[in-house]
Formats: sequence, C-alpha cells, structure tokens
Amino acid sequence: MHKNFKNIDNVTYGRGAFSQLAETVELVRKENKNYFVYVVDNYFKGKELANKLQNKKEDLIYFIDVDPHEPTTEQIDALRDEIISKKGLPSGVIGIGGGSIMDIAKALSLMLTNEGSSTLYQGLNLIKKPGVYHLGIPTISGTGAEVSMTAVLTGPEKKLGLKCDSTVFNQVILDPELISTVPLDWWFYTGMDTYIHCIESESGIRNNAFSLAYGEQSLKLCREIYLGEKAGQTNENNDKLMVASLMGGLSLTYSEVGVCHAVSYGLSKILGTRHCYANCIIFQHLEDIYPKGVSEFKQMIQKHKIELPQNLSKDWDDKTLTAMATVSFNLPFMWNHAFGDNYKEIATMDYIINLFRRL
Ligand SMILES: [Fe+2]
Repeated sequence: MHKNFKNIDNVTYGRGAFSQLAETVELVRKENKNYFVYVVDNYFKGKELANKLQNKKEDLIYFIDVDPHEPTTEQIDALRDEIISKKGLPSGVIGIGGGSIMDIAKALSLMLTNEGSSTLYQGLNLIKKPGVYHLGIPTISGTGAEVSMTAVLTGPEKKLGLKCDSTVFNQVILDPELISTVPLDWWFYTGMDTYIHCIESESGIRNNAFSLAYGEQSLKLCREIYLGEKAGQTNENNDKLMVASLMGGLSLTYSEVGVCHAVSYGLSKILGTRHCYANCIIFQHLEDIYPKGVSEFKQMIQKHKIELPQNLSKDWDDKTLTAMATVSFNLPFMWNHAFGDNYKEIATMDYIINLFRRL
C-alpha cells in the first residue's frame, strides 16, 4: 500500500514573513467569527517577539514552558479542557516555537474537536474528526515538525504521535529571522536531526526516488551549512536551514527513519532526553550501520567544537536498559526500514540493549 501523504496547504517563506501573520489568518477569522489560541514558547515571554504577535483582544495567548519535558497527553488534555470551558471552540490554533510547540499546536487542534483523552488517539488514523485550523511558525529548525503528519506526545504508556492527514498544518510561516537567536549548540543538535532524517531515509528499504529527491537536496544544504566554506550560524545559512528542515521532513515522510530514531525514542521516553540531543548522543556510535553518515557527522562535530556526553550507560542498570530497549523494540517499521524484511532476526532485544550500552 503506497502512502497518500497530505502536504501543508500553504507555506509562506522569507525574511520578515512573520509580519504577515495577521493578514494570513484574516479570512479564517471572518469565516468563523471567533477567536484564535496562540501557543508560544515561554522563552519569548517578555522578549521582542511577544510584542509582535498581531493578536486581537479576544484571542487567548499561552506561553508554554517546553523545557521540563516533551509534550504529554496529560498536558494537551488539560489545555484543551481549559480552552473549551473558557471560550468554547476557537477559529484556530497558532503555534510559535520549536518542535515541541509545533507538536502541541497540532495535537491541540485535533483534541479540540475529538472527545476524551489524547491517549485514545496515539497511533495511525485513530482521530475521528478533523481538528480546527492550525498554523505553525517555527523558531528553531531541524525536527521537521512543521511538515510532519505526526504530533508526538508522551503518554503514560507510550511515546507515540497522533498521526493522520488532519495533523498536518493548514499553514506554515517560515521566517529565517526567527531562528537567528538560537544558541549555537541547539542550532547544531536540531540541524543534525534533519541531517539524520536524510541519512536514515536514504539508508533503508523504503527509500524511493520521491524521498531521495527531497533527502538529497536537504543533505546538500546541511553540508553547506555545517561543513562548507561558509559554514556557521549566518543569515544565509539560516535561510537554507529552514528549507533543509522542511525537505528532510518530506523525505522521511515518503520513506522512514531508522536505527538512530528508534533508539532515540527509547532514551527520550525513559530518561526525558530531548529528541535532537538524544539523536546526536546516539548517532556518533552507529558507524557500523551508517558509516558515511557518522563519519561526516563527526567532522561536523569537530568543526563546531560540539562536545557530546560519553559513557552514559555506565550508570544504567538492567531494568533501565530493558525499559529503554522495549520502547525501541516496539517501533518495528523503523527496524524493518533499516534492516530489511528479516529485521526480526537482527533487531532482537539483546541487540537493542547492546546499542544502548554503546552510549
Ligand atoms: Fe527526528
């Protein structure tokens, strides 16, 4: 069965594009005669961007701290209940922030129209009604959350996305000016998420001409940004990074991620390590699986003087290792993509536990 991927309806790209937010949502406001919910990364509270939200007085603005953990089902349910009880159904949700805020905006849009807990909808095509209009404005680039059909949530039992056509944003505004203040280490980790998406997408059985076309272009941009003569956190490279992130996301949508992401989900679920950072911690140890990709990744690490933690696993007991490996083991489509149809013979619990022992 071939994927029938729903792309973003509209994309605005360019420096200063953020200033077009109000006029972009004007029609949606008129149609629904209602209000908008803003979910904004708490990092921007009191900062310049918070004065440029172009909101109306009837809108609700939530500054959300994404630092303590990645978005949870409990958090989305509570936010949904609060919004509905305060003002009823909004015209739409506007998310301004990094990958976690993108996921919150997408999940909230769906949960505003679907009853019960979001834990009921973790998985593929479980959502019953389309969500409200939702618009994403990334302020850090790399996760591909702006284009993906998944809103990743951590629940009491699993870390798994609400995944369906309706998850995809109606509108995305890509303004490279917004990513210019990202600290260097996070500029690196999040950009490497894109790089790893492309390496994993092309190294597996679900790779095809469609995914490869996006992946190759995204990899070309990543190499210019992180390894080229003009490598570094410049305006020109930020213009490229926003596009690389989008194309990396499109590449994996038409293919699949692989071993690094499977292991990363286990690490994040059990220890709460943030996605992009977890990927970097893991990818450095996968040279036997992705030799060229890991070698190039190490050159990038050196060039930007990034130091990644080593020997983390010495503090993990068997129970922790088994818990992490179980989460990873239960992502068969990633192992299948990476290792082919006999993946069950390779990606056993013992094998996965040993991957965690490398960290
Ligand atoms: Fe990723």
